[in-house]
Amino acid sequence: MSACLPSVYPLIQAPMAGAQDHRMAAAVCRAGGLGSLPAAMWTATQLAGEIEALRALTDAPFNVNFFTHEMPPPDEAVKARWQHRLQDYYRHWGVTADSAPVPLRRPFAAEQLEVLQQYRPAVVSFHFGLPQAGLMRAVKDTGAQVLASATTVAEAQWLADHGADVVIAQGSEAGGHRATFLGSDMATQTGLFALLPQVADAVPVPVVATGGIADERGIRAALALGASAVQLGTAYLLCHESLIGGVHRTALSAAAGAVAAETAISNVFSGKPARGLVNTLMRDLGCLNEDVAPFPYAAAATAALRSAAEAQGDSSFTPLWSGQNPHGCRAISAYDLTRDLCGCFEG
Ligand SMILES: Cc1cc2nc3c(=O)[nH]c(=O)nc-3n(C[C@H](O)[C@H](O)[C@H](O)COP(=O)(O)O)c2cc1C
Repeated sequence: MSACLPSVYPLIQAPMAGAQDHRMAAAVCRAGGLGSLPAAMWTATQLAGEIEALRALTDAPFNVNFFTHEMPPPDEAVKARWQHRLQDYYRHWGVTADSAPVPLRRPFAAEQLEVLQQYRPAVVSFHFGLPQAGLMRAVKDTGAQVLASATTVAEAQWLADHGADVVIAQGSEAGGHRATFLGSDMATQTGLFALLPQVADAVPVPVVATGGIADERGIRAALALGASAVQLGTAYLLCHESLIGGVHRTALSAAAGAVAAETAISNVFSGKPARGLVNTLMRDLGCLNEDVAPFPYAAAATAALRSAAEAQGDSSFTPLWSGQNPHGCRAISAYDLTRDLCGCFEG
């Protein structure tokens, strides 16, 4: 067993809502890593089904991951402003703003806690802070080890002070959403090489490194800088078990083989800053746009555009989530990728 995780190796397959399910998690667990179930876009019933499906494939320990964002009350004026900003695209693609409903990302709540109490996963991780104190205590009472992501030293200290057993230091290289929950200034975000040793010095709990780690070199560097384990997301996105769609796969395959892939942090897809390959919507509106509706509401306004464009093989409105280093992406099974990566823990 690895020193800070219940898996054989100190490697976590990052939970990736919308991009994977129990099949990827099970493959990683069977290879000795810690597979993750990303619950942010699932109902409690769907989550229970995913846990049962995973348990049918492996009895290894696994991680269940939740978002802990606030849900601002829906605001019609803000929604109208965002839809107005997208008007020309609606006209061009012949769609209306709400013709393609999307599942709303929901924060961890009592229904999800009941699933944890029933199935008792070994590890539970949170993105965007921690649940409120009562829920957090109840999660810990299930016996789960609690992990949570920090993008600054201050966030890492806050998480450790509020009961996180392990802190995930998320460098600004990371694909997907920034876990930021104290402050919102993206200009001050730190790369993993600077963030990790400072977090390791600042908190009394083990630290997991994440963001831009693509191969054994990255894993060794993270361990040298004070990490007890690593978490990789983008590297798994071209694996057979990945659920990303055709346009995302094509763009990421090109980026994986390119000399330098162009990614940026943008709020235009969900309302919160997240890193992906630069595409038309990001270029046209600017990566951080002030008219965007708040998370998690913004995604609904681009959903119809996304399906219309994707039907023609066009990635203009698709969030092409990727970290800054897609060179580790390989079209192999998540089992084989995990075995290869974990070779570096063998001696
Ligand atoms: C497609 C995608 C979806 C993600 N979804 C989640 C999520 O649901 N929960 C979470 O905690 N982190 C999520 N992340 C962020 C990862 O936990 C991690 O911080 C990131 O993948 C690390 O950087 P890397 O992609 O360069 O390896 C996501 C990342 C990607 C690429």
